[in-house]
Amino acid sequence: MIQLLDIRYVRLGTRDLGAADRFAREVVGLEAVRTDGGARYYRSDARDHTLVYFEGDPADHAVGFELRDREALDAAAAALSDAGVAVRHGSADDNEQRRVRDSVFFRDPSGNAIELVARAAHSGRRHFPSRDAGITGFSHIGLCSNDPKRDEAFWTGRLGARVSDRIGDAALLRIDPVHHKIALFPTTRSGVQHVNHQVASIDDVMRAWYFLQGRGVRIVFGPGRHPTSGAVFLYFEGPDGMVYEYSTGVRRIEPEDEAGHRPRQFPKAPESFCMWGAVPDIAEFRS
Ligand SMILES: [Fe+2]
Repeated sequence: MIQLLDIRYVRLGTRDLGAADRFAREVVGLEAVRTDGGARYYRSDARDHTLVYFEGDPADHAVGFELRDREALDAAAAALSDAGVAVRHGSADDNEQRRVRDSVFFRDPSGNAIELVARAAHSGRRHFPSRDAGITGFSHIGLCSNDPKRDEAFWTGRLGARVSDRIGDAALLRIDPVHHKIALFPTTRSGVQHVNHQVASIDDVMRAWYFLQGRGVRIVFGPGRHPTSGAVFLYFEGPDGMVYEYSTGVRRIEPEDEAGHRPRQFPKAPESFCMWGAVPDIAEFRS
């Protein structure tokens, strides 16, 4: 079985790199690391980078996950290939751009571009954000699914993810103790549905609420608390309609609780997304 150690990065295409760059630095509060080959790289924690904006189609998204080593990558490539999934090993250029030693690329059944990487670079420098948003790190993504039952089976059966809870047909999936690192939302498109950064405290969520309103950024959900993960959240709209989220206090399912964990089924209703009464203005969250 493939073991995804962690989510590593998200790569997003944009036609307006300047606007995306300003948003990443000045609004989200990420640290700009470098511009390389028409792409801009951002840090949010101790890793070399966790977000990339590149010049291209705004519908072109890719998500990177970390595997242990080259052997684990080769085994994953073989297992996916045996299952009929088209895989390709990253070129030297691909690996250099991503600051990883090895990589394998494929698409999940909904067409989402997934990249498995090994020996991804950490930074020797302390993370120094461009503003005090309280970000502690990139943590999870929402992923579009045009057949949630099929995609849940793929992510759990092929990639070793476990279901923590479900809202309607949307599965919240964990690959480590964090309640979810991937959430599969039923929709008709493919790509990344939202990008989450964890912040240190509820104070950071509320400070962001005032800060974003002051900057004229559209708030699309929250502040609120998810009854699933227990996290306090705020969702807002970024470039090209991408939804960004800050959250804090996400529940963990520790190794000793793994065996006894049973996913809870929540109905597809506003109160399943927010226990305080916030109503989402996000297509995939609407009832
Ligand atoms: Fe989220």
